[in-house]
Amino acid sequence: MPANTTLFSPINLGPHTLPNRMAMAPMTRNRAGEGNVPQPVNAEYYAQRTSAGLIITEATQISPQGVGYPATPGIHSTAQVAGWKLVTDAVHAKGGRIFLQLWHVGRISHPSLQPNGATPVAPSAIKPSGQVYTYQGMQDYVTPRALTLSELPGIIEDYRTAAQNALAAGFDGVEIHGANGYLLDQFLRDGSNQRTDAYGGSLANRARLMLEVTGAVSAVWGANRVGIRLSPLQPFNDMRDSNPEATFGYAVGQLNRFGLAYLHVTEMGMEKPGAAGSAFDLGKLRTIWQGVYMTNSGYDLARASAALGANKADMVSFGVLFLANPDLPARFAKGAALNTPDQATFYGGNEKGYTDYPFMS
Ligand code: PHB
Repeated sequence: MPANTTLFSPINLGPHTLPNRMAMAPMTRNRAGEGNVPQPVNAEYYAQRTSAGLIITEATQISPQGVGYPATPGIHSTAQVAGWKLVTDAVHAKGGRIFLQLWHVGRISHPSLQPNGATPVAPSAIKPSGQVYTYQGMQDYVTPRALTLSELPGIIEDYRTAAQNALAAGFDGVEIHGANGYLLDQFLRDGSNQRTDAYGGSLANRARLMLEVTGAVSAVWGANRVGIRLSPLQPFNDMRDSNPEATFGYAVGQLNRFGLAYLHVTEMGMEKPGAAGSAFDLGKLRTIWQGVYMTNSGYDLARASAALGANKADMVSFGVLFLANPDLPARFAKGAALNTPDQATFYGGNEKGYTDYPFMS
């Protein structure tokens, strides 16, 4: 990375040249319409944030089986593709770039959210602790059904079809959601994967589905328009791994072979440096990875600038700050004050707390 690189330095991401290194992080907002179809208000929300170097959409289901939350969008029906076309057209009309995040929730679902009330699927029949938000309110998670070996080609096929749909919807690329305790992460980490077949046990076996999905999606898009997100230390969704350093070091090393657009690592769950029981230093992943490295988790202008200045990352994604500040890059450039995020309107609702955060005057 050239010396004096800042958040405002352009960067090449596959075939795209981004005007700056600030990404809008993927954020669930639960404002899709009937049939989990994106609406004009969703297009307005994303179009307001086109000054991001890159917009990464909220997590988006690849199939009806991949659904785990109310009013989250999909990319498996014709109506959803048309809804997303509204979004990509609005973003492109304002000169932005937008990647779709491809998502299958695995066990983080509930029969009431599944086709025909089916049991959610997972690598192994291990019930996550906690409760799931459903249309009927909070309910306990159920014990998922372990996917059979013969079902896995169908899952990969669903990713491929969703990737093709994203292409048809006019996106600039896709991000594979390999993080936060959803299906691919459930396969990767040994707290949720106790399989004894070719998809469980060894590191190679636990990473297999993620790598096969990456191959399938890359075949549709070209690998240089595909990113992937990982969360090595994230405990959310009852996740754990007996050796995150080995697991994620292996996965990142293997992902190198595709030539992806970027690796997006969320530091969620990272202990404060020096804290007792401190997990491994995620900076090791930066040294293993041979492409663009995007970091995430609670960064502000000062921390993000320091991370780039110290060559700890090539890009930084911002979640809540972009949610509350549609013109975040301009505010950062001026050192201007930021809007206060309203937690009550993060998940679900209407324009309030969605498209009504003010721009700088
Ligand atoms: C959520 O909907 O709570 C959610 C979705 C995707 C994530 C994390 C959280 O990666």
